[in-house]
Amino acid sequence: MSTSISPKPISFSGIQSSGIPSIGNYIGAFKPFTAYPQTHKAYFCVVDHHAITVRQEPKDLFENSYGVAAWYLAAGLNPHECTLFIQSHVKEHTELGWILNTFTQMGELERMTQFKDKAARHKENVNAGLFGYPVLMAADILLYNTQEVPVGDDQIQHIELARNIATRFNNIYGDTFVMPKGVIPKSGARVKDLQEPTRKMSKSQPGPGTILLNESPAEAAKKIKRAQTDSLGVIAYDTENQPGIANLLEILGGLTNRTPQAVAQEFEGQQYGALKGAVAEAVVFALEPLQAEYTRLMSDKAELHRILAKGADDAREVAAQTVRKVKEKMGYVLA
Ligand code: TRP
Repeated sequence: MSTSISPKPISFSGIQSSGIPSIGNYIGAFKPFTAYPQTHKAYFCVVDHHAITVRQEPKDLFENSYGVAAWYLAAGLNPHECTLFIQSHVKEHTELGWILNTFTQMGELERMTQFKDKAARHKENVNAGLFGYPVLMAADILLYNTQEVPVGDDQIQHIELARNIATRFNNIYGDTFVMPKGVIPKSGARVKDLQEPTRKMSKSQPGPGTILLNESPAEAAKKIKRAQTDSLGVIAYDTENQPGIANLLEILGGLTNRTPQAVAQEFEGQQYGALKGAVAEAVVFALEPLQAEYTRLMSDKAELHRILAKGADDAREVAAQTVRKVKEKMGYVLA
Protein backbone atom coordinates (compact mmCIF):
# COMPACT_ATOMS: atom_id res chain seq x y z
CA MET A 1 0.00 0.00 0.00
CA SER A 2 2.81 2.39 0.82
CA THR A 3 4.96 1.49 -2.13
CA SER A 4 4.18 3.47 -5.25
CA ILE A 5 3.96 1.08 -8.17
CA SER A 6 6.58 1.84 -10.75
CA PRO A 7 7.47 -0.39 -13.68
CA LYS A 8 11.14 0.34 -13.05
CA PRO A 9 12.88 0.14 -9.68
CA ILE A 10 13.43 3.55 -8.10
CA SER A 11 16.98 4.80 -7.58
CA PHE A 12 18.22 7.90 -5.78
CA SER A 13 21.69 9.31 -5.42
CA GLY A 14 23.22 12.60 -4.39
CA ILE A 15 26.48 14.46 -4.81
CA GLN A 16 27.49 17.33 -2.54
CA SER A 17 28.15 20.75 -4.02
CA SER A 18 31.24 21.28 -1.93
CA GLY A 19 34.27 21.92 -4.10
CA ILE A 20 34.96 20.88 -7.65
CA PRO A 21 34.35 17.17 -8.32
CA SER A 22 37.38 15.02 -9.08
CA ILE A 23 37.98 12.44 -11.75
CA GLY A 24 37.25 9.97 -8.96
CA ASN A 25 33.72 11.38 -8.70
CA TYR A 26 33.41 11.08 -12.47
CA ILE A 27 34.54 7.46 -12.64
CA GLY A 28 32.80 6.38 -9.43
CA ALA A 29 29.56 8.35 -9.76
CA PHE A 30 28.73 10.69 -12.65
CA LYS A 31 29.70 8.24 -15.38
CA PRO A 32 28.07 5.07 -13.99
CA PHE A 33 24.97 7.11 -13.07
CA THR A 34 24.30 7.82 -16.73
CA ALA A 35 23.25 4.18 -17.25
CA TYR A 36 20.54 4.32 -14.55
CA PRO A 37 17.67 6.00 -16.41
CA GLN A 38 17.52 3.08 -18.84
CA THR A 39 16.67 0.63 -16.09
CA HIS A 40 15.44 2.78 -13.19
CA LYS A 41 13.16 5.62 -12.32
CA ALA A 42 16.22 7.62 -11.36
CA TYR A 43 16.56 10.65 -9.08
CA PHE A 44 19.82 12.59 -9.00
CA CYS A 45 20.29 15.32 -6.48
CA VAL A 46 22.76 18.13 -5.85
CA VAL A 47 22.92 17.98 -2.06
CA ASP A 48 23.63 21.57 -1.10
CA HIS A 49 22.25 21.22 2.44
CA HIS A 50 24.87 18.54 3.01
CA ALA A 51 27.61 20.73 1.58
CA ILE A 52 27.10 23.41 4.25
CA THR A 53 27.99 21.00 7.06
CA VAL A 54 31.52 22.17 6.21
CA ARG A 55 31.79 25.97 5.88
CA GLN A 56 31.45 27.14 2.25
CA GLU A 57 32.24 30.51 0.66
CA PRO A 58 28.87 31.80 -0.61
CA LYS A 59 30.11 32.34 -4.15
CA ASP A 60 31.64 28.85 -4.20
CA LEU A 61 28.47 27.19 -2.94
CA PHE A 62 26.52 29.06 -5.62
CA GLU A 63 28.87 28.11 -8.47
CA ASN A 64 29.38 24.55 -7.27
CA SER A 65 25.65 23.84 -6.93
CA TYR A 66 25.09 24.76 -10.56
CA GLY A 67 28.43 23.10 -11.24
CA VAL A 68 27.50 19.66 -9.89
CA ALA A 69 24.28 19.81 -11.91
CA ALA A 70 26.30 20.69 -15.01
CA TRP A 71 28.75 17.81 -14.41
CA TYR A 72 25.83 15.37 -14.12
CA LEU A 73 24.55 16.61 -17.48
CA ALA A 74 27.96 16.88 -19.14
CA ALA A 75 28.64 13.26 -18.17
CA GLY A 76 25.63 12.31 -20.26
CA LEU A 77 22.49 12.36 -18.09
CA ASN A 78 19.43 13.30 -20.08
CA PRO A 79 17.18 15.43 -17.84
CA HIS A 80 14.11 14.19 -19.72
CA GLU A 81 14.87 10.63 -18.66
CA CYS A 82 15.50 11.22 -14.97
CA THR A 83 14.77 13.70 -12.19
CA LEU A 84 17.73 16.03 -11.61
CA PHE A 85 17.31 18.68 -8.93
CA ILE A 86 18.82 20.69 -6.11
CA GLN A 87 18.06 19.36 -2.64
CA SER A 88 17.19 22.73 -1.09
CA HIS A 89 14.56 23.34 -3.79
CA VAL A 90 12.44 20.60 -2.24
CA LYS A 91 11.77 21.68 1.35
CA GLU A 92 10.50 18.24 2.27
CA HIS A 93 14.12 17.08 2.63
CA THR A 94 14.74 19.23 5.68
CA GLU A 95 11.24 18.62 7.00
CA LEU A 96 11.54 14.84 6.90
CA GLY A 97 15.13 15.17 8.11
CA TRP A 98 13.86 16.91 11.26
CA ILE A 99 11.26 14.25 11.89
CA LEU A 100 13.77 11.43 11.36
CA ASN A 101 16.11 13.03 13.91
CA THR A 102 13.65 11.83 16.51
CA PHE A 103 14.03 8.26 15.26
CA THR A 104 17.82 8.35 15.39
CA GLN A 105 19.91 7.68 18.44
CA MET A 106 22.98 9.75 19.35
CA GLY A 107 24.98 6.55 19.69
CA GLU A 108 24.18 5.53 16.12
CA LEU A 109 25.47 8.83 14.77
CA GLU A 110 28.57 8.67 16.96
CA ARG A 111 29.52 5.43 15.23
CA MET A 112 29.50 6.93 11.71
CA THR A 113 33.04 6.78 10.34
CA GLN A 114 32.52 9.73 7.99
CA PHE A 115 31.50 11.87 10.95
CA LYS A 116 34.56 10.78 12.90
CA ASP A 117 36.83 11.54 9.92
CA LYS A 118 35.30 14.92 9.18
CA ALA A 119 35.18 15.92 12.83
CA ALA A 120 38.89 15.16 13.04
CA ARG A 121 39.64 17.19 9.90
CA HIS A 122 37.46 20.18 10.87
CA LYS A 123 38.08 20.40 14.61
CA GLU A 124 37.17 24.08 14.61
CA ASN A 125 33.64 23.39 13.35
CA VAL A 126 32.19 20.13 14.61
CA ASN A 127 28.64 21.42 14.24
CA ALA A 128 25.36 19.66 14.91
CA GLY A 129 24.62 19.60 11.18
CA LEU A 130 27.74 17.56 10.54
CA PHE A 131 26.62 15.16 13.25
CA GLY A 132 23.10 14.93 11.83
CA TYR A 133 24.29 14.66 8.21
CA PRO A 134 23.32 10.96 7.85
CA VAL A 135 19.77 11.69 9.06
CA LEU A 136 19.25 14.21 6.25
CA MET A 137 20.71 11.64 3.86
CA ALA A 138 18.16 9.11 5.15
CA ALA A 139 15.41 11.64 4.44
CA ASP A 140 16.76 12.20 0.90
CA ILE A 141 16.50 8.50 0.22
CA LEU A 142 13.25 7.67 2.02
CA LEU A 143 11.24 10.54 0.49
CA TYR A 144 11.20 8.87 -2.92
CA ASN A 145 10.32 5.24 -2.09
CA THR A 146 13.86 4.48 -3.16
CA GLN A 147 14.83 0.87 -3.69
CA GLU A 148 18.42 1.31 -4.84
CA VAL A 149 21.01 3.86 -3.84
CA PRO A 150 24.10 3.81 -6.07
CA VAL A 151 27.03 5.00 -3.94
CA GLY A 152 30.65 4.41 -3.17
CA ASP A 153 31.49 1.86 -0.50
CA ASP A 154 32.20 4.64 2.02
CA GLN A 155 28.47 5.45 2.04
CA ILE A 156 27.16 1.97 2.81
CA GLN A 157 27.21 2.68 6.54
CA HIS A 158 24.94 5.70 6.01
CA ILE A 159 22.50 3.59 4.02
CA GLU A 160 22.44 0.96 6.75
CA LEU A 161 21.46 3.76 9.12
CA ALA A 162 18.68 4.86 6.74
CA ARG A 163 17.40 1.29 6.74
CA ASN A 164 17.45 1.16 10.54
CA ILE A 165 15.56 4.45 10.77
CA ALA A 166 12.99 3.24 8.22
CA THR A 167 12.51 -0.06 10.03
CA ARG A 168 12.07 1.68 13.35
CA PHE A 169 9.43 4.01 11.92
CA ASN A 170 7.62 1.21 10.12
CA ASN A 171 7.57 -0.91 13.27
CA ILE A 172 5.87 1.87 15.21
CA TYR A 173 3.49 3.31 12.62
CA GLY A 174 3.03 0.50 10.12
CA ASP A 175 4.42 0.06 6.65
CA THR A 176 5.41 3.54 5.49
CA PHE A 177 8.92 3.64 4.09
CA VAL A 178 10.25 1.44 1.32
CA MET A 179 13.44 -0.32 2.38
CA PRO A 180 16.36 1.02 0.32
CA LYS A 181 19.53 -0.86 -0.42
CA GLY A 182 22.95 0.50 -1.23
CA VAL A 183 24.47 -0.66 -4.49
CA ILE A 184 27.99 -0.07 -5.69
CA PRO A 185 27.73 0.52 -9.45
CA LYS A 186 29.47 -2.35 -11.22
CA SER A 187 31.38 -0.11 -13.56
CA GLY A 188 32.19 2.47 -10.91
CA ALA A 189 35.69 2.11 -9.59
CA ARG A 190 36.78 3.72 -6.35
CA VAL A 191 39.60 5.94 -7.51
CA LYS A 192 42.35 6.52 -4.97
CA ASP A 193 44.69 9.45 -4.42
CA LEU A 194 47.53 9.35 -6.96
CA GLN A 195 50.18 10.07 -4.34
CA GLU A 196 48.68 8.11 -1.44
CA PRO A 197 46.92 5.28 -3.25
CA THR A 198 45.57 3.75 -0.07
CA ARG A 199 43.14 6.59 0.50
CA LYS A 200 40.20 7.75 -1.60
CA MET A 201 40.83 10.58 -4.09
CA SER A 202 39.11 13.48 -2.39
CA LYS A 203 37.91 16.68 -3.97
CA SER A 204 38.26 18.39 -0.61
CA GLN A 205 41.97 17.68 -0.42
CA PRO A 206 43.31 18.95 -3.76
CA GLY A 207 46.98 18.55 -4.67
CA PRO A 208 49.25 16.40 -6.80
CA GLY A 209 47.26 13.28 -5.88
CA THR A 210 43.92 14.64 -7.06
CA ILE A 211 42.66 15.50 -10.54
CA LEU A 212 39.72 17.89 -10.47
CA LEU A 213 37.31 17.85 -13.38
CA ASN A 214 38.06 21.45 -14.31
CA GLU A 215 41.82 20.99 -14.44
CA SER A 216 43.67 21.41 -17.70
CA PRO A 217 44.00 18.02 -19.40
CA ALA A 218 47.75 18.63 -19.78
CA GLU A 219 48.12 19.16 -16.04
CA ALA A 220 46.02 16.06 -15.39
CA ALA A 221 48.26 14.00 -17.67
CA LYS A 222 51.31 15.22 -15.73
CA LYS A 223 49.76 14.13 -12.45
CA ILE A 224 49.12 10.65 -13.87
CA LYS A 225 52.73 10.39 -15.02
CA ARG A 226 53.93 11.37 -11.54
CA ALA A 227 51.57 8.97 -9.78
CA GLN A 228 53.13 6.86 -7.08
CA THR A 229 53.81 3.27 -8.08
CA ASP A 230 56.16 0.69 -6.54
CA SER A 231 59.43 -1.06 -7.24
CA LEU A 232 58.02 -4.48 -8.13
CA GLY A 233 58.01 -3.74 -11.86
CA VAL A 234 55.08 -6.04 -12.58
CA ILE A 235 51.71 -4.96 -13.93
CA ALA A 236 49.06 -6.93 -12.07
CA TYR A 237 45.86 -5.98 -10.27
CA ASP A 238 46.88 -6.35 -6.64
CA THR A 239 45.32 -3.68 -4.42
CA GLU A 240 47.10 -5.05 -1.36
CA ASN A 241 50.71 -5.04 -2.58
CA GLN A 242 50.52 -2.64 -5.53
CA PRO A 243 47.92 0.00 -4.64
CA GLY A 244 49.37 2.61 -7.01
CA ILE A 245 49.32 0.32 -10.05
CA ALA A 246 45.89 -1.01 -9.05
CA ASN A 247 44.61 2.57 -8.98
CA LEU A 248 45.95 3.32 -12.47
CA LEU A 249 44.29 0.12 -13.70
CA GLU A 250 41.02 1.20 -12.05
CA ILE A 251 41.17 4.61 -13.71
CA LEU A 252 41.88 3.22 -17.15
CA GLY A 253 39.27 0.48 -16.70
CA GLY A 254 36.70 3.01 -15.45
CA LEU A 255 37.28 5.29 -18.42
CA THR A 256 37.25 2.52 -21.03
CA ASN A 257 34.48 0.36 -19.53
CA ARG A 258 36.68 -2.55 -18.60
CA THR A 259 37.58 -4.27 -15.38
CA PRO A 260 40.98 -3.42 -13.91
CA GLN A 261 41.86 -7.09 -14.27
CA ALA A 262 41.22 -6.95 -18.01
CA VAL A 263 43.42 -3.87 -18.28
CA ALA A 264 46.15 -5.60 -16.27
CA GLN A 265 46.06 -8.47 -18.73
CA GLU A 266 46.47 -6.11 -21.66
CA PHE A 267 49.56 -4.55 -20.06
CA GLU A 268 51.09 -7.77 -18.77
CA GLY A 269 54.85 -7.73 -19.23
CA GLN A 270 54.95 -4.02 -20.11
CA GLN A 271 56.69 -1.17 -18.30
CA TYR A 272 54.92 1.15 -15.84
CA GLY A 273 55.62 4.02 -18.26
CA ALA A 274 53.47 2.41 -20.93
CA LEU A 275 50.57 2.02 -18.52
CA LYS A 276 50.90 5.60 -17.30
CA GLY A 277 50.98 6.85 -20.89
CA ALA A 278 47.77 5.02 -21.68
CA VAL A 279 46.05 6.25 -18.50
CA ALA A 280 47.12 9.83 -19.17
CA GLU A 281 45.80 9.60 -22.71
CA ALA A 282 42.46 8.19 -21.55
CA VAL A 283 42.13 10.95 -18.95
CA VAL A 284 42.79 13.66 -21.56
CA PHE A 285 40.39 11.97 -23.96
CA ALA A 286 37.64 11.94 -21.29
CA LEU A 287 38.27 15.44 -19.92
CA GLU A 288 38.29 17.37 -23.18
CA PRO A 289 34.68 16.77 -24.30
CA LEU A 290 33.42 16.71 -20.71
CA GLN A 291 34.89 20.15 -20.02
CA ALA A 292 33.61 21.56 -23.30
CA GLU A 293 30.07 20.46 -22.46
CA TYR A 294 30.39 21.71 -18.87
CA THR A 295 31.51 25.13 -20.08
CA ARG A 296 28.61 25.29 -22.51
CA LEU A 297 26.09 24.38 -19.81
CA MET A 298 27.53 26.82 -17.27
CA SER A 299 27.44 29.67 -19.78
CA ASP A 300 23.62 29.52 -19.77
CA LYS A 301 22.58 29.41 -16.11
CA ALA A 302 19.02 30.37 -17.00
CA GLU A 303 18.65 27.18 -19.01
CA LEU A 304 20.36 25.14 -16.31
CA HIS A 305 18.00 26.67 -13.79
CA ARG A 306 14.98 25.71 -15.87
CA ILE A 307 16.14 22.09 -15.99
CA LEU A 308 16.64 22.05 -12.23
CA ALA A 309 13.32 23.78 -11.50
CA LYS A 310 11.49 21.17 -13.58
CA GLY A 311 13.32 18.42 -11.69
CA ALA A 312 12.40 19.98 -8.34
CA ASP A 313 8.74 20.20 -9.37
CA ASP A 314 8.67 16.49 -10.20
CA ALA A 315 10.57 15.53 -7.05
CA ARG A 316 8.35 17.69 -4.83
CA GLU A 317 5.24 15.88 -5.90
CA VAL A 318 6.50 12.55 -4.58
CA ALA A 319 8.28 14.06 -1.57
CA ALA A 320 5.16 15.93 -0.44
CA GLN A 321 3.12 12.73 -0.50
CA THR A 322 5.67 10.96 1.66
CA VAL A 323 5.83 13.76 4.21
CA ARG A 324 2.06 13.97 4.35
CA LYS A 325 1.79 10.24 4.98
CA VAL A 326 4.43 10.39 7.72
CA LYS A 327 2.78 13.34 9.46
CA GLU A 328 -0.66 11.77 9.25
CA LYS A 329 0.57 8.56 10.82
CA MET A 330 2.30 10.43 13.61
CA GLY A 331 -0.73 12.53 14.48
CA TYR A 332 0.39 15.91 13.17
CA VAL A 333 -2.42 18.35 12.38
CA LEU A 334 -2.05 18.73 8.61
CA ALA A 335 -1.99 22.23 7.15
N1 TRP B 1 26.76 11.41 1.60
C1 TRP B 1 26.89 11.25 0.17
C2 TRP B 1 28.36 11.36 -0.21
O1 TRP B 1 29.11 12.04 0.46
C3 TRP B 1 26.07 12.28 -0.57
C4 TRP B 1 24.60 12.07 -0.37
C5 TRP B 1 23.73 12.86 0.33
C6 TRP B 1 23.84 10.98 -0.86
N2 TRP B 1 22.49 12.36 0.28
C7 TRP B 1 22.51 11.20 -0.43
C8 TRP B 1 24.17 9.85 -1.62
C9 TRP B 1 21.49 10.30 -0.74
C10 TRP B 1 23.14 8.95 -1.92
C11 TRP B 1 21.82 9.17 -1.48
O2 TRP B 1 28.76 10.80 -1.20
